Amino acid sequence: MQELNLYSKIEKFLDFADEIEALHQTFKEIVEELNPTSLIDIGCGQGDFLLSLDNKIDTLGIDLSDEAIALAKAKQLNAQNIDLCKVDKKFQCATAIFDVINYIPEDKIGEFFKCCYDVLEKDGYFIFDINTLYGFEDVAQGSLNIDLDDKYISIDAYFEDNILETKIVFFEQKDTLYKKQSGIIRQYYHTKKFLQHQLEILGFEIESAIKFKLHSEDDYDKQIFITKRL
Ligand SMILES: C[S@@+](CC[C@H](N)C(=O)[O-])C[C@H]1O[C@@H](n2cnc3c(N)ncnc32)[C@H](O)[C@@H]1O
Repeated sequence: MQELNLYSKIEKFLDFADEIEALHQTFKEIVEELNPTSLIDIGCGQGDFLLSLDNKIDTLGIDLSDEAIALAKAKQLNAQNIDLCKVDKKFQCATAIFDVINYIPEDKIGEFFKCCYDVLEKDGYFIFDINTLYGFEDVAQGSLNIDLDDKYISIDAYFEDNILETKIVFFEQKDTLYKKQSGIIRQYYHTKKFLQHQLEILGFEIESAIKFKLHSEDDYDKQIFITKRL
């Protein structure tokens, strides 16, 4: 997963720390209310959400980026570079935080949700966020250049036909030369109606959908779904 590893490399240079912490805090409050004894964080990245949780919860973080998992493991977290559908343990709660569901194309969502269903115990909760259309059209699009002493990052995001393409170019100094890495990350806009249908045919019930302002003061750019596996 070349592109996901590239994102993992540049994530710490993006100025999102406060926003991500606010999103993690909201998920933490939801999880604390549900009080699970076990939790799987799908697309855990570098593991910061898991770190914020009470260490009495038995946790597993999984991610398709091996670089992200190496960083999570360095924080002493139980983390694995494994596909969700290959996890054979069951949990009382599953989370997928900060765009994870938008990384999955429409024709793969059903299979992904089925695997979420399979890793949950009966009455377990699956909590995730998605970007709204406003989030894609008005917040995510645009260009960003980050010029550091020994690194240069260029990000260019364009939303068309319900797909956000983010082109990343990353130059990293190695001795006197710069190494260039580049890739495109695609995120897919999903409507609430589509997700609700996909969840309900599997046996999930949506308990609530919370509007959330992550990067914007004007309108909500995310929605957090709290769903229950019946
Ligand atoms: C924006 S990051 C969010 C990381 C973390 N959840 C957080 O809140 O900081 C999205 C993560 O989802 C991971 N990801 C994307 N698709 C995935 C999939 N199908 N299964 C597991 N992880 C996935 C990416 O590698 C990336 O680490």
